Amino acid sequence: MSDVAVAGGGLIGLATAWRAAQRGLSVTVVDDSPGTGASAAAAGMLAPVTEAGYREEALLRLGLASVERWPAFAADVERAGGTPVGLRTAGTLVVGFDEDDVRELTALHAYQRELGLDAERLTPREARRREPSLTPRVRGGLLVAGDHSVDGRALHAALLQAAQVAGVRLIRDRVTALRVDGGRAAGLETAGGTIAAGTVVLALGAHSGRLPGVPPLPVRPVKGQILRLAGATDLLEGTVRALVRGRQVYLVPYAGDRLIVGATTEDRGFDPTVTAGGVHDLLHDAIDVVPAISELELVETLARWRPGTPDNAPLLGPGPLPGLVLATGHHRNGVLLTPVTAEVTAELLATGVLPEVAAPFTTDRFGR
Ligand code: GLY
Repeated sequence: MSDVAVAGGGLIGLATAWRAAQRGLSVTVVDDSPGTGASAAAAGMLAPVTEAGYREEALLRLGLASVERWPAFAADVERAGGTPVGLRTAGTLVVGFDEDDVRELTALHAYQRELGLDAERLTPREARRREPSLTPRVRGGLLVAGDHSVDGRALHAALLQAAQVAGVRLIRDRVTALRVDGGRAAGLETAGGTIAAGTVVLALGAHSGRLPGVPPLPVRPVKGQILRLAGATDLLEGTVRALVRGRQVYLVPYAGDRLIVGATTEDRGFDPTVTAGGVHDLLHDAIDVVPAISELELVETLARWRPGTPDNAPLLGPGPLPGLVLATGHHRNGVLLTPVTAEVTAELLATGVLPEVAAPFTTDRFGR
Protein backbone atom coordinates (compact mmCIF):
# COMPACT_ATOMS: atom_id res chain seq x y z
CA MET A 1 0.00 0.00 0.00
CA SER A 2 1.29 3.47 -0.92
CA ASP A 3 0.74 6.68 0.98
CA VAL A 4 -0.42 8.26 -2.29
CA ALA A 5 -1.73 6.94 -5.61
CA VAL A 6 -1.73 9.44 -8.47
CA ALA A 7 -4.16 8.79 -11.31
CA GLY A 8 -2.49 10.23 -14.40
CA GLY A 9 1.16 10.43 -15.47
CA GLY A 10 0.99 13.67 -17.42
CA LEU A 11 2.94 16.75 -16.39
CA ILE A 12 0.67 17.56 -13.44
CA GLY A 13 0.54 14.00 -12.11
CA LEU A 14 4.26 13.36 -12.45
CA ALA A 15 5.37 16.68 -10.97
CA THR A 16 3.00 16.20 -8.04
CA ALA A 17 4.23 12.65 -7.49
CA TRP A 18 7.85 13.81 -7.63
CA ARG A 19 7.32 16.63 -5.13
CA ALA A 20 5.35 14.32 -2.81
CA ALA A 21 8.12 11.71 -2.93
CA GLN A 22 10.63 14.44 -2.08
CA ARG A 23 8.52 15.08 1.03
CA GLY A 24 9.09 11.48 2.14
CA LEU A 25 5.79 9.95 0.97
CA SER A 26 5.56 6.64 -0.87
CA VAL A 27 3.90 7.40 -4.20
CA THR A 28 2.52 5.30 -7.06
CA VAL A 29 1.56 6.83 -10.41
CA VAL A 30 -0.83 4.90 -12.62
CA ASP A 31 -1.12 5.60 -16.34
CA ASP A 32 -1.21 3.21 -19.29
CA SER A 33 0.50 5.70 -21.56
CA PRO A 34 2.12 8.54 -19.63
CA GLY A 35 2.62 11.83 -21.46
CA THR A 36 0.47 11.08 -24.49
CA GLY A 37 -2.54 13.20 -23.52
CA ALA A 38 -2.64 16.98 -23.31
CA SER A 39 1.01 16.96 -22.17
CA ALA A 40 2.03 15.74 -25.63
CA ALA A 41 0.07 18.45 -27.39
CA ALA A 42 0.84 21.43 -25.17
CA ALA A 43 2.79 24.24 -26.80
CA GLY A 44 4.50 24.85 -23.47
CA MET A 45 3.65 28.51 -23.09
CA LEU A 46 4.30 29.93 -19.62
CA ALA A 47 2.06 32.87 -20.27
CA PRO A 48 0.03 34.21 -17.36
CA VAL A 49 -0.27 37.66 -18.94
CA THR A 50 -1.03 36.80 -22.57
CA GLU A 51 -3.43 34.02 -21.53
CA ALA A 52 -5.26 36.24 -19.02
CA GLY A 53 -8.92 36.69 -19.88
CA TYR A 54 -11.07 39.56 -18.70
CA ARG A 55 -12.37 39.02 -15.13
CA GLU A 56 -9.95 36.13 -14.51
CA GLU A 57 -7.80 37.95 -11.94
CA ALA A 58 -7.65 35.03 -9.47
CA LEU A 59 -6.30 32.74 -12.20
CA LEU A 60 -3.89 35.46 -13.29
CA ARG A 61 -2.48 35.70 -9.74
CA LEU A 62 -1.99 31.92 -9.62
CA GLY A 63 -0.30 32.04 -13.04
CA LEU A 64 2.05 34.80 -11.91
CA ALA A 65 2.87 32.82 -8.77
CA SER A 66 3.72 29.83 -10.94
CA VAL A 67 5.74 31.65 -13.61
CA GLU A 68 7.87 33.07 -10.80
CA ARG A 69 8.64 29.51 -9.70
CA TRP A 70 9.54 28.33 -13.20
CA PRO A 71 13.30 29.08 -13.40
CA ALA A 72 14.06 27.25 -10.13
CA PHE A 73 11.62 24.45 -11.00
CA ALA A 74 13.24 23.94 -14.44
CA ALA A 75 16.72 23.87 -12.91
CA ASP A 76 15.56 21.40 -10.27
CA VAL A 77 13.90 19.06 -12.81
CA GLU A 78 16.95 19.20 -15.07
CA ARG A 79 19.26 18.38 -12.18
CA ALA A 80 17.10 15.49 -10.99
CA GLY A 81 16.01 14.23 -14.41
CA GLY A 82 19.35 14.67 -16.13
CA THR A 83 17.99 16.17 -19.37
CA PRO A 84 17.19 19.75 -20.47
CA VAL A 85 13.60 21.01 -20.48
CA GLY A 86 14.07 23.79 -23.05
CA LEU A 87 13.08 26.79 -20.94
CA ARG A 88 13.07 29.93 -23.13
CA THR A 89 12.95 33.31 -21.46
CA ALA A 90 12.79 35.53 -24.53
CA GLY A 91 9.30 36.84 -23.74
CA THR A 92 6.21 36.97 -25.95
CA LEU A 93 5.24 39.36 -28.71
CA VAL A 94 1.54 39.82 -29.46
CA VAL A 95 0.68 41.37 -32.81
CA GLY A 96 -2.48 42.63 -34.48
CA PHE A 97 -2.95 41.92 -38.18
CA ASP A 98 -5.58 44.49 -39.16
CA GLU A 99 -7.00 47.69 -37.64
CA ASP A 100 -9.74 45.84 -35.72
CA ASP A 101 -7.16 43.43 -34.31
CA VAL A 102 -5.06 46.38 -33.14
CA ARG A 103 -8.11 47.99 -31.52
CA GLU A 104 -8.55 44.78 -29.57
CA LEU A 105 -4.87 44.84 -28.56
CA THR A 106 -5.29 48.44 -27.36
CA ALA A 107 -8.18 47.41 -25.12
CA LEU A 108 -6.18 44.43 -23.87
CA HIS A 109 -3.19 46.64 -23.11
CA ALA A 110 -5.39 49.07 -21.13
CA TYR A 111 -6.67 46.13 -19.06
CA GLN A 112 -3.14 44.81 -18.50
CA ARG A 113 -1.98 48.25 -17.33
CA GLU A 114 -4.97 48.56 -15.01
CA LEU A 115 -3.78 45.32 -13.38
CA GLY A 116 -0.20 46.62 -13.17
CA LEU A 117 1.13 43.98 -15.58
CA ASP A 118 4.33 44.33 -17.56
CA ALA A 119 3.29 44.84 -21.21
CA GLU A 120 4.84 47.35 -23.59
CA ARG A 121 3.08 48.76 -26.63
CA LEU A 122 5.12 48.47 -29.87
CA THR A 123 4.75 50.13 -33.25
CA PRO A 124 4.74 47.84 -36.32
CA ARG A 125 8.36 48.84 -36.96
CA GLU A 126 9.39 47.97 -33.37
CA ALA A 127 7.56 44.66 -33.58
CA ARG A 128 9.43 43.78 -36.78
CA ARG A 129 12.73 44.86 -35.31
CA ARG A 130 12.22 42.25 -32.62
CA GLU A 131 10.88 39.58 -35.00
CA PRO A 132 12.15 40.35 -38.54
CA SER A 133 10.23 37.42 -40.06
CA LEU A 134 6.88 39.13 -39.33
CA THR A 135 4.91 40.33 -42.31
CA PRO A 136 5.11 44.11 -42.93
CA ARG A 137 1.29 44.04 -42.85
CA VAL A 138 1.27 43.74 -39.03
CA ARG A 139 -0.40 46.89 -37.61
CA GLY A 140 0.98 46.95 -34.06
CA GLY A 141 2.17 44.91 -31.13
CA LEU A 142 2.57 44.32 -27.42
CA LEU A 143 5.72 42.95 -25.83
CA VAL A 144 5.19 40.88 -22.71
CA ALA A 145 8.70 40.27 -21.42
CA GLY A 146 7.67 37.89 -18.62
CA ASP A 147 5.71 35.31 -20.68
CA HIS A 148 8.03 32.44 -21.58
CA SER A 149 7.92 28.86 -22.85
CA VAL A 150 9.27 25.40 -22.20
CA ASP A 151 9.45 22.25 -24.29
CA GLY A 152 6.55 20.25 -22.85
CA ARG A 153 7.69 16.87 -24.15
CA ALA A 154 11.25 17.37 -22.93
CA LEU A 155 9.82 18.42 -19.58
CA HIS A 156 7.73 15.26 -19.39
CA ALA A 157 10.73 13.05 -20.12
CA ALA A 158 12.82 14.79 -17.45
CA LEU A 159 10.00 14.62 -14.90
CA LEU A 160 9.50 10.91 -15.55
CA GLN A 161 13.15 10.32 -14.78
CA ALA A 162 13.20 12.69 -11.78
CA ALA A 163 10.13 11.03 -10.27
CA GLN A 164 11.55 7.54 -10.63
CA VAL A 165 14.91 8.58 -9.17
CA ALA A 166 12.99 10.01 -6.19
CA GLY A 167 11.36 6.60 -5.66
CA VAL A 168 8.00 7.08 -7.37
CA ARG A 169 6.59 3.78 -8.61
CA LEU A 170 5.11 3.97 -12.10
CA ILE A 171 2.48 1.41 -13.04
CA ARG A 172 1.70 1.37 -16.75
CA ASP A 173 -1.90 0.28 -16.56
CA ARG A 174 -5.29 1.77 -17.36
CA VAL A 175 -7.10 3.40 -14.43
CA THR A 176 -10.67 2.09 -14.53
CA ALA A 177 -12.19 3.47 -11.31
CA LEU A 178 -11.57 5.18 -8.01
CA ARG A 179 -11.53 2.63 -5.21
CA VAL A 180 -13.88 3.78 -2.46
CA ASP A 181 -13.99 2.13 0.94
CA GLY A 182 -16.32 3.27 3.72
CA GLY A 183 -17.05 6.55 1.88
CA ARG A 184 -13.35 7.34 1.47
CA ALA A 185 -11.01 7.21 -1.51
CA ALA A 186 -8.80 4.22 -0.84
CA GLY A 187 -6.87 3.65 -4.05
CA LEU A 188 -7.38 2.94 -7.73
CA GLU A 189 -8.87 0.09 -9.71
CA THR A 190 -6.94 -0.70 -12.86
CA ALA A 191 -7.32 -3.07 -15.78
CA GLY A 192 -4.79 -5.33 -14.04
CA GLY A 193 -5.90 -5.14 -10.39
CA THR A 194 -6.22 -2.88 -7.36
CA ILE A 195 -3.77 -0.31 -6.02
CA ALA A 196 -4.44 0.53 -2.39
CA ALA A 197 -3.42 3.96 -1.12
CA GLY A 198 -4.07 6.27 1.82
CA THR A 199 -4.81 9.21 -0.48
CA VAL A 200 -5.60 9.48 -4.19
CA VAL A 201 -4.62 12.42 -6.38
CA LEU A 202 -6.84 12.86 -9.41
CA ALA A 203 -4.66 14.19 -12.25
CA LEU A 204 -6.42 12.76 -15.30
CA GLY A 205 -6.80 16.06 -17.14
CA ALA A 206 -9.93 16.20 -19.28
CA HIS A 207 -10.80 12.62 -18.23
CA SER A 208 -11.00 13.59 -14.56
CA GLY A 209 -14.73 14.22 -14.79
CA ARG A 210 -15.59 10.70 -15.91
CA LEU A 211 -13.69 8.28 -13.70
CA PRO A 212 -16.19 5.84 -12.14
CA GLY A 213 -16.33 6.31 -8.37
CA VAL A 214 -15.50 10.02 -8.50
CA PRO A 215 -18.51 12.23 -7.66
CA PRO A 216 -19.46 14.64 -10.48
CA LEU A 217 -16.81 17.28 -11.14
CA PRO A 218 -17.11 20.39 -13.33
CA VAL A 219 -14.43 19.31 -15.83
CA ARG A 220 -15.15 19.06 -19.56
CA PRO A 221 -12.95 18.39 -22.61
CA VAL A 222 -12.04 21.44 -24.69
CA LYS A 223 -10.54 20.22 -27.93
CA GLY A 224 -7.38 21.78 -29.33
CA GLN A 225 -5.81 20.95 -32.67
CA ILE A 226 -2.12 21.82 -32.88
CA LEU A 227 0.65 21.55 -35.47
CA ARG A 228 4.38 20.88 -35.30
CA LEU A 229 6.69 22.09 -38.05
CA ALA A 230 10.40 21.71 -38.74
CA GLY A 231 12.98 23.89 -40.47
CA ALA A 232 12.36 27.03 -38.38
CA THR A 233 15.96 27.65 -37.25
CA ASP A 234 16.29 31.30 -36.17
CA LEU A 235 12.83 32.09 -37.54
CA LEU A 236 11.57 33.54 -34.25
CA GLU A 237 13.23 34.98 -31.15
CA GLY A 238 10.41 34.03 -28.78
CA THR A 239 6.71 33.19 -28.79
CA VAL A 240 4.59 35.19 -31.21
CA ARG A 241 0.86 35.43 -30.63
CA ALA A 242 -1.34 37.09 -33.18
CA LEU A 243 -4.86 38.28 -33.69
CA VAL A 244 -5.65 37.72 -37.34
CA ARG A 245 -9.01 39.16 -38.36
CA GLY A 246 -10.31 38.42 -34.88
CA ARG A 247 -8.90 34.88 -34.69
CA GLN A 248 -6.04 33.92 -32.38
CA VAL A 249 -2.97 31.95 -33.38
CA TYR A 250 0.30 31.35 -31.55
CA LEU A 251 3.75 30.37 -32.80
CA VAL A 252 6.13 28.83 -30.28
CA PRO A 253 9.72 27.99 -31.27
CA TYR A 254 11.32 25.02 -29.52
CA ALA A 255 14.14 22.47 -29.81
CA GLY A 256 16.44 23.79 -32.52
CA ASP A 257 14.49 24.08 -35.74
CA ARG A 258 11.01 23.25 -34.44
CA LEU A 259 7.92 25.42 -34.32
CA ILE A 260 4.49 24.81 -32.78
CA VAL A 261 1.45 26.46 -34.33
CA GLY A 262 -1.67 26.40 -32.19
CA ALA A 263 -4.41 25.96 -31.44
CA THR A 264 -8.09 25.55 -32.10
CA THR A 265 -10.55 25.79 -29.19
CA GLU A 266 -13.59 23.59 -29.72
CA ASP A 267 -16.38 22.29 -27.51
CA ARG A 268 -16.86 18.93 -29.21
CA GLY A 269 -16.53 16.45 -26.38
CA PHE A 270 -13.80 13.85 -26.83
CA ASP A 271 -13.68 14.19 -30.61
CA PRO A 272 -10.14 13.13 -31.64
CA THR A 273 -10.33 14.27 -35.27
CA VAL A 274 -7.74 16.51 -36.87
CA THR A 275 -9.86 18.37 -39.40
CA ALA A 276 -8.96 19.93 -42.73
CA GLY A 277 -10.60 23.18 -41.55
CA GLY A 278 -8.67 23.24 -38.28
CA VAL A 279 -5.31 22.72 -39.98
CA HIS A 280 -6.24 25.18 -42.73
CA ASP A 281 -7.20 27.97 -40.31
CA LEU A 282 -4.06 27.56 -38.19
CA LEU A 283 -1.71 27.50 -41.19
CA HIS A 284 -3.55 30.29 -43.00
CA ASP A 285 -3.29 32.64 -40.01
CA ALA A 286 0.28 31.58 -39.17
CA ILE A 287 1.45 32.21 -42.75
CA ASP A 288 -0.35 35.57 -42.84
CA VAL A 289 1.70 36.62 -39.81
CA VAL A 290 5.03 34.95 -40.69
CA PRO A 291 5.05 34.21 -44.45
CA ALA A 292 8.19 32.04 -44.28
CA ILE A 293 6.15 29.41 -42.43
CA SER A 294 4.83 28.29 -45.82
CA GLU A 295 8.31 26.84 -46.55
CA LEU A 296 8.49 24.72 -43.38
CA GLU A 297 7.87 21.00 -43.16
CA LEU A 298 4.60 20.02 -41.47
CA VAL A 299 5.72 17.09 -39.34
CA GLU A 300 2.84 16.45 -36.97
CA THR A 301 -0.81 17.31 -36.46
CA LEU A 302 -2.72 16.27 -33.38
CA ALA A 303 -5.85 16.89 -31.37
CA ARG A 304 -6.12 16.60 -27.60
CA TRP A 305 -8.43 17.89 -24.87
CA ARG A 306 -7.81 20.63 -22.35
CA PRO A 307 -9.53 20.03 -19.00
CA GLY A 308 -11.94 22.97 -19.02
CA THR A 309 -13.85 24.25 -15.98
CA PRO A 310 -16.67 26.81 -15.70
CA ASP A 311 -14.27 29.62 -14.69
CA ASN A 312 -11.24 28.36 -16.68
CA ALA A 313 -9.28 27.89 -13.42
CA PRO A 314 -8.00 24.61 -11.98
CA LEU A 315 -9.47 22.40 -9.29
CA LEU A 316 -6.93 22.05 -6.48
CA GLY A 317 -6.97 20.75 -2.93
CA PRO A 318 -9.42 18.43 -1.17
CA GLY A 319 -11.88 16.66 -3.46
CA PRO A 320 -15.53 15.81 -2.90
CA LEU A 321 -14.64 12.60 -1.00
CA PRO A 322 -12.34 12.21 2.01
CA GLY A 323 -8.97 10.91 0.82
CA LEU A 324 -9.39 12.37 -2.67
CA VAL A 325 -7.20 15.32 -3.73
CA LEU A 326 -7.73 17.24 -6.98
CA ALA A 327 -4.98 18.39 -9.32
CA THR A 328 -6.95 18.92 -12.49
CA GLY A 329 -8.98 21.42 -14.56
CA HIS A 330 -5.93 23.39 -15.73
CA HIS A 331 -7.59 24.18 -19.04
CA ARG A 332 -5.16 26.33 -21.13
CA ASN A 333 -2.52 26.63 -18.41
CA GLY A 334 -1.37 23.14 -17.47
CA VAL A 335 2.30 23.63 -18.24
CA LEU A 336 2.43 27.07 -16.64
CA LEU A 337 0.69 25.82 -13.48
CA THR A 338 2.73 22.62 -13.09
CA PRO A 339 5.21 23.97 -10.49
CA VAL A 340 2.64 25.63 -8.23
CA THR A 341 0.21 22.70 -8.51
CA ALA A 342 2.91 20.19 -7.59
CA GLU A 343 4.08 22.32 -4.69
CA VAL A 344 0.68 22.98 -3.10
CA THR A 345 -0.54 19.43 -3.63
CA ALA A 346 2.61 17.93 -2.11
CA GLU A 347 2.24 20.31 0.84
CA LEU A 348 -1.38 19.21 1.35
CA LEU A 349 -0.38 15.55 1.11
CA ALA A 350 2.54 15.93 3.51
CA THR A 351 0.97 18.24 6.12
CA GLY A 352 -2.79 18.24 5.58
CA VAL A 353 -2.71 21.99 4.94
CA LEU A 354 -3.45 23.55 1.56
CA PRO A 355 -1.26 26.64 1.02
CA GLU A 356 -3.05 30.00 0.80
CA VAL A 357 -2.13 30.52 -2.87
CA ALA A 358 -4.36 27.56 -3.80
CA ALA A 359 -7.30 28.41 -1.52
CA PRO A 360 -9.40 30.16 -4.23
CA PHE A 361 -9.26 27.04 -6.42
CA THR A 362 -10.94 24.37 -4.31
CA THR A 363 -13.94 22.79 -6.01
CA ASP A 364 -16.40 24.00 -3.39
CA ARG A 365 -16.11 27.49 -4.96
CA PHE A 366 -18.81 26.44 -7.41
CA GLY A 367 -21.25 25.81 -4.56
CA ARG A 368 -20.45 29.09 -2.76
N1 GLY B 1 -2.23 27.31 -23.69
C1 GLY B 1 -2.64 27.41 -25.01
C2 GLY B 1 -3.74 26.51 -25.39
O1 GLY B 1 -4.33 25.84 -24.57
O2 GLY B 1 -4.04 26.48 -26.56
